[in-house]
Amino acid sequence: MTDRAPVAHQVEGDFGKSVEGFDVRKTSLEPTSADLGTARTPVDRFFVCNAGAAARVDAGAWRLRIDGDAAGAPVLLTFEQIAELPFVEVDAWLECAGNGRRLYEHVGGHARRASAQDTHWMTGAMGMARWGGVRLADVIALAEPVDDLAWVSPAGLDVDNEDGEAVRMCLPAAKALDADTLLAVEMNGSPLSAAHGAPARLLVPGWIGAYSVKWIDRIELSTNWIPSFRADVYYRRRDPDGTDCGPATVHPVKSTLALVWEAEIPPGLTTLTGYARSGAAPITRVEWSLDDGPWERAELHPLTGRWAWTPFSLAVELGPGAHQIRTRATDATGATQPDTTPYHPNTMLWNAITPHPLVVGQPKEPTRP
Ligand code: MTE
Repeated sequence: MTDRAPVAHQVEGDFGKSVEGFDVRKTSLEPTSADLGTARTPVDRFFVCNAGAAARVDAGAWRLRIDGDAAGAPVLLTFEQIAELPFVEVDAWLECAGNGRRLYEHVGGHARRASAQDTHWMTGAMGMARWGGVRLADVIALAEPVDDLAWVSPAGLDVDNEDGEAVRMCLPAAKALDADTLLAVEMNGSPLSAAHGAPARLLVPGWIGAYSVKWIDRIELSTNWIPSFRADVYYRRRDPDGTDCGPATVHPVKSTLALVWEAEIPPGLTTLTGYARSGAAPITRVEWSLDDGPWERAELHPLTGRWAWTPFSLAVELGPGAHQIRTRATDATGATQPDTTPYHPNTMLWNAITPHPLVVGQPKEPTRP
């Protein structure tokens, strides 16, 4: 942490909250997707994705620097100055680009990639929360950006790699200045916890979680792209042969059952639930199919807010034995989940229709009087 030591420190193995009930994946925490709530995911069930240990920040000493070649008047802001801006709330789901990475193995049949950066998520690296804070546009305005501001690069107090590079991303000005992009200071009505970026983080709804930089301490404004490990190397879309297709941004349309993998379920009529979402447009339809049978409509239970995920439910009659349930979401652009996700060298953005395995037990013997 060198020059930043008085403001923040990191202790190896510190996730910023209790790990109870989570699968610990290196420096990150995964709940099961059976356990994410619907309208909101409680903070103690919300996934954590960290490059290293959580940063513990002294909020009193913390400052947010906004500078760069497109800042007409660079500023150094205190938490109190930020709190003077209009307070807004946005209901949004947050999801890691790598959520479902292990489905490249379990469903796609690809070998697991040996990469120091990869977190081997199942399907729990997502959650739904009410984020409170101020519009990033209002914060950026304090630094009087020039008219041709094009790129906004937020950086956190933690580091990404052995070179000591701060965790940072680069997002286009249009998304940074969108009214729903926040500098968030609250999650589900409480101040952010250390795990989720206290005292302030970005919330970039609908986009891969990497843009929602935690423990933020600097925002660089530029007329040019600002390079970083995350934006230039790791969070890139790639063809199966590795050809670069630009930065990963919007989440494609997806659906996930709120069910552990290889769930054990009693026989009979069962209601299953799940979450559908798309960064591009609202969800319009979710269908399901049992054991390759015909597609049927699931019931949608939309929440308010453009960026909320859409819970769905389906009632299915299950006989004893092994089964698979597939779900398929469609959004308002007409995009629907594909049959396969082509192999992606960074094993991100899994959104193929996923046959979810489950095992149904034998009917219970009636108990004798
Ligand atoms: N911000 C910092 N400073 N350091 C990080 O490691 N991880 C990013 C993002 N912001 C990260 C970060 C990634 S990859 C994701 S998916 C989200 O935070 C996860 O947010 P959460 O841990 O609050 O769930």
